Amino acid sequence: MVSTASHIGDFQFKNVFMNAAGVYCMTREELETVRQSAAGTFVTKTATLESRAGNPEPRYHDVPLGSINSMGLPNQGLDYYLDYLLELQDTAPEDTFFLSLVGLSPDETHTILKKVEASAYQGLIELNLSCPNVPGKPQIAYDFETTENLLTEVFTYFTKSLGVKLPPYFDIVHFDQAATIFNKFPLTFVNCVNSIGNGLYIEDETVAIKPKQGFGGLGGQYIKPTALANVHAFYQRLKPEIQIIGTGGVLTGRDAFEHILCGASMVQIGTQLQKEGVGIFERVTAELKAIMAEKGYDSIEDFRGKLHYMD
Ligand code: SIN
Repeated sequence: MVSTASHIGDFQFKNVFMNAAGVYCMTREELETVRQSAAGTFVTKTATLESRAGNPEPRYHDVPLGSINSMGLPNQGLDYYLDYLLELQDTAPEDTFFLSLVGLSPDETHTILKKVEASAYQGLIELNLSCPNVPGKPQIAYDFETTENLLTEVFTYFTKSLGVKLPPYFDIVHFDQAATIFNKFPLTFVNCVNSIGNGLYIEDETVAIKPKQGFGGLGGQYIKPTALANVHAFYQRLKPEIQIIGTGGVLTGRDAFEHILCGASMVQIGTQLQKEGVGIFERVTAELKAIMAEKGYDSIEDFRGKLHYMD
């Protein structure tokens, strides 16, 4: 019997697929839709301490090879998501979910994480170090010193299961430097990758989204090779206790198979979930299972990380 079950840390998931933060996760209603689908779990929209309206619309645009967005972290605020997750912890204690969060400053990030630490929440936490869309706020994980300082401080008080959402890196030296930093900390996972930041898509003579004069994060087919490279580069470099979530360019079971082959333990879907709706989880699960059956793999551990190289 072919199984697409997986785990992150000590948490088990019946299916390797889930949403990517930003898609189907702004409200309880959207999160419930993912929860009731074939997905193995969900991640919330990245929460800031207070709710945010985000950038002016139009701020998301589907394009033939993916999407461009500059949402600007619209969200309902930490308490909204935390309260919902605490409720689920009581009503569905066998399930684990991901709470995504980040502050608009290091101080705010610490305030948020201390609140989560002090709460009864026992699930996974994803610290988003990679939002490219808040004007005046650079992607944290492109600044290695800030990242290391932030994590050093976080782990003086934070004891729950924490991972980080990363932007794509494009240089071997940057993979080395980033992995050296992450290996210093008791992270549960890294998530590779957020959108490729600050692309520009033009229709006729005009940009496709309003914020930042059209600059926005790219998702979808454009980014799969970059996402796979990041998943595999970190799989090669991180200590085995830090698992990898693969995100970027997943439209089919074959795309997910490639992410897992590169080392991913969970696979997130963003742009194509937005385009297709939650029915995608059933389709890609069936497609992945068919590939696994054809190759004689019973579980994702049979091929996870086992990418073949040429001699
Ligand atoms: C956004 O809200 O701008 C997208 C979130 C992200 O890219 O982290």
